[in-house]
Amino acid sequence: MAATFDALWVEEQPDGSFARSIVRRSTDDLPAGEVLVRVHYSSLNYKDALSASGNRGVTRKYPHTPGIDAAGAVVESAVDAFRPGDEVIVIGYDLGMNTAGGFGGYIRVPAGWVVARPAGLTLREAMALGTAGFTAAQCVAALVDHGVQPESGEVLVTGATGGVGSVAVALLSKLGYTVTAATGKLDEFDFLHELGALNVIDRSAVDDTSGKVLLRERWAGVVDTVGGNILASAIRATRYGGSVAACGMVASGALELTVFPFILRGVKLLGIDSVNVSIDERRAMWERLAGPWKLAALDRMAREVSLGELDAEIEASLLGQQRGRVIVTHAA
Ligand SMILES: NC(=O)c1ccc[n+]([C@@H]2O[C@H](COP(=O)([O-])OP(=O)(O)OC[C@H]3O[C@@H](n4cnc5c(N)ncnc54)[C@H](OP(=O)(O)O)[C@@H]3O)[C@@H](O)[C@H]2O)c1
Repeated sequence: MAATFDALWVEEQPDGSFARSIVRRSTDDLPAGEVLVRVHYSSLNYKDALSASGNRGVTRKYPHTPGIDAAGAVVESAVDAFRPGDEVIVIGYDLGMNTAGGFGGYIRVPAGWVVARPAGLTLREAMALGTAGFTAAQCVAALVDHGVQPESGEVLVTGATGGVGSVAVALLSKLGYTVTAATGKLDEFDFLHELGALNVIDRSAVDDTSGKVLLRERWAGVVDTVGGNILASAIRATRYGGSVAACGMVASGALELTVFPFILRGVKLLGIDSVNVSIDERRAMWERLAGPWKLAALDRMAREVSLGELDAEIEASLLGQQRGRVIVTHAA
């Protein structure tokens, strides 16, 4: 029998603007799929803010329910791998982009998108991480895989108070790295120190406008969440043989550079994508985040909001004002 639930609803208006409201939906409205999940928690990512404000680079067709993250319990399953009651995590692929997402109380998705909740994480903790935390872990794993070690030197994290940035700071610090956090929020230095950053600097200090093709070698590794000139500056200031993991574009999608950091210093630019990672890699990363990379401070890194409180959080995200992670809780 169909169930009804609340969902965030983003609709185009006759004047071309987009309006958000909470509407009552039915599981009959959801797309076809093998697994129906009652969503307990979702989380807010920058991409959700784009989808919720009518960005057609993320969501082509409206009306739409965003939410690229969901964690909850299976209600119906057409495959043997999942049974009603199983606790699961769904992030990435098309969820929340053109498939109704976690800002609704139920999702229906292909079984190939679903990961069983690892024993070491609660559903809430999984969403305290969400796509942002998962991507931060991918960035850190890429640096580790490319030889950046704690003793290699300073690692820079940009957009440090954001979702990806804050988890990257905490993870790198847990793994013993010397972390320098760059932020635009001068009042959040304490937050970043508490997450484990040794140095906290104003983002203008890593936004070089000298025009020099190479800068003083400083970073052994970089996790960049902002793109644009800050990413270009970080690459130009990366030490010989160092690596830069690039995952975001909140500042800009452009990247103006010469080849000199690559051909004179052997700097490696590592592209990070969380959307189309294979389900096996996804499972392995969740196990890592639930085990050896589990963050003690996970509960403190995230705030909980209801669907009704989400609007203000979306606006804050669009303005670059988010701090840490935002969990979205669905009423039972
Ligand atoms: N590749 C992937 O698969 C993947 C996955 C997840 C996220 N992402 C991308 O990663 C980025 C961060 O996502 P998120 O969810 O962490 O976003 P978020 O929570 O909204 O945080 C973004 C942070 O970036 C900084 N920032 C904002 N505007 C800026 C500007 N104009 N210049 C420099 N810094 C600015 C701010 O931190 P400070 O004030 O501390 O500087 C802000 O809190 C987004 O571009 C997102 O699309 C990509």
